[in-house]
Amino acid sequence: MTNLSNPIAVIDSGVGGLTVAQELLRQLPREEICYFGDTARCPYGQRSIEEVRTFSFQMIDYLMESNPKMLVIACNTATAVILEECREKLDIPVIGVIHPGVRTAIKATVTGRVGVIGTQNTVQSGLYEEALKQIHPALYVKSLACPTLVPLAEKGGGEETEAIQIVKKALAPLAGEDIDTLILGCTHYPLLSNVIQRVIGDQVQMISSADETAREVSTILFHKNLLSQQFGRPMHRFYTSGNVSVFQQIAERWLNKHINVKQVILDS
Ligand code: DGL
Repeated sequence: MTNLSNPIAVIDSGVGGLTVAQELLRQLPREEICYFGDTARCPYGQRSIEEVRTFSFQMIDYLMESNPKMLVIACNTATAVILEECREKLDIPVIGVIHPGVRTAIKATVTGRVGVIGTQNTVQSGLYEEALKQIHPALYVKSLACPTLVPLAEKGGGEETEAIQIVKKALAPLAGEDIDTLILGCTHYPLLSNVIQRVIGDQVQMISSADETAREVSTILFHKNLLSQQFGRPMHRFYTSGNVSVFQQIAERWLNKHINVKQVILDS
């Protein structure tokens, strides 16, 4: 039987899922989180489907030892590859980040012209476009792979002028598309939201799936009677396959709190 104080497991290829973890901590402050970022093998965006699958399940297997009550695949690339399989294999609720982002964007767009930026794998999967058009067939959707952005986020955003140059170059194909809404279809991108907003302009609203994903977690836990009954601040656990201090630095800045990080080496 699931213990209500069991953690919510969160996985990502690196620090990107922290943008989802941040919202979970804000919306569900009594829930414990155990987070795995596969920083050593990030980015997943251009890896083969089989690699994304194998690596993601290695993280999940590790976190399953903590007996989580729910799993959040806080990575669009992994969501596209393993969400359905996870739902079949695991006997806990599993959610990804693609549908929450789609729902937020549909509510936000006024003109019906939506941009989606993500990793090569996410864009190639076509899942955003499919999910958007399933809800609203008349939408205009322009998808764009931005492979240079994840390495920038993984190093904490880098130096400002360099970051602006990289983002400008990556987003150049969106010029003239006249979108009013841009889905940040990679959980790393909100870490660069200031720079992305500067480049894309204030007339475009950026959509991160973090907020809606955390809301969905909260709804599921509520309806399944799985919300923690314990009062007090839980001890979260963070694991990385890469450098502990780089991960810790980015995570503490983003989450605005001290955290403990442990390195776990996964078999390649
Ligand atoms: N943060 C991930 C995503 O949402 C993965 C980025 C990557 O590893 O390329 O797609």
